[in-house]
Amino acid sequence: MKKIYGVIGYPIGHSMSPVMHNNAFSHHEIDGYYTAFQVHPRDLEDAIKGMKALQIGGFNVTTPHKVHVMDYLDEVDSIAKSIGAVNTIVHLDGKLIGYNTDGIGYVRALQEISGDLKKKRILIVGAGGACRAIFFTLASLGVKHIDIANRTVQRAADLITDCAEQQLSHALTIVEAEQQIDKYDIIINTTTVGMHPYTDDIPISLDGLRRDSIVSDIIYNPLETKLLKVAHDKGAVIQNGVGMFVYQGALAFEKWTGVMPNIERMKKIVEEQLG
Ligand code: ATR
Repeated sequence: MKKIYGVIGYPIGHSMSPVMHNNAFSHHEIDGYYTAFQVHPRDLEDAIKGMKALQIGGFNVTTPHKVHVMDYLDEVDSIAKSIGAVNTIVHLDGKLIGYNTDGIGYVRALQEISGDLKKKRILIVGAGGACRAIFFTLASLGVKHIDIANRTVQRAADLITDCAEQQLSHALTIVEAEQQIDKYDIIINTTTVGMHPYTDDIPISLDGLRRDSIVSDIIYNPLETKLLKVAHDKGAVIQNGVGMFVYQGALAFEKWTGVMPNIERMKKIVEEQLG
């Protein structure tokens, strides 16, 4: 029997996940179908119960449900618990189990261009949910030097305090981070600054950037943010958010089906969608 999968969010209209997953089901000859469900926050509990009753195979969770959904699951895996958010749910033997593939999805994409991350000095700009997923995942992999710069510096400080193994990390203002930008091997933007339609905005100035640094932006609309353009002009290696988006989806697909889908194929489909 065909298994149904999906994504819940509010609003959900623009999701690229259905095309990406349905293409992977068909390519790998798996009898599944993935669709988007718009779920109002007041209906979240009912929707989750419904997913169980309807024997949905698994689903992704996006804004604004990633935190609250945990209240309605049977189990939450340990890294998702420390991140404090779930983006992937597996329905197994009548139980709903929550995972977070955002952080590891980001890291898998980054590793394609960075090599071993353990010794790298990393700066994350932003201290919201996306930063949290990436920070905790990098920390769990033994990366020691990860600073966080944020407009609201206290949020960065709180995040670092929440992560026991991160004694070498510092919370910085944006200006402090700009003044020592040459210290970092990798700079990651997790803020929404530069996202469509505000494409002229930049979250941090890159004067003094080293040519051998990597600059990575989790934004994929536009494919090249102002931050990435400036970094590219300075000779740095750049990466946009398509890799993270594709890997978080691919890792969810693998949890549901046991099959790791073809990443390059998925990337192509997403890039076509973004046009
Ligand atoms: P997400 O879950 O996608 O990470 P979020 O929790 O709303 O989203 O976090 C958004 C991040 O972008 C935060 O770091 C936010 O900074 P504050 O913590 O100071 O709010 C940052 N951000 C959003 N708009 C910004 C702006 N105009 N200038 C600087 N930082 C901004």
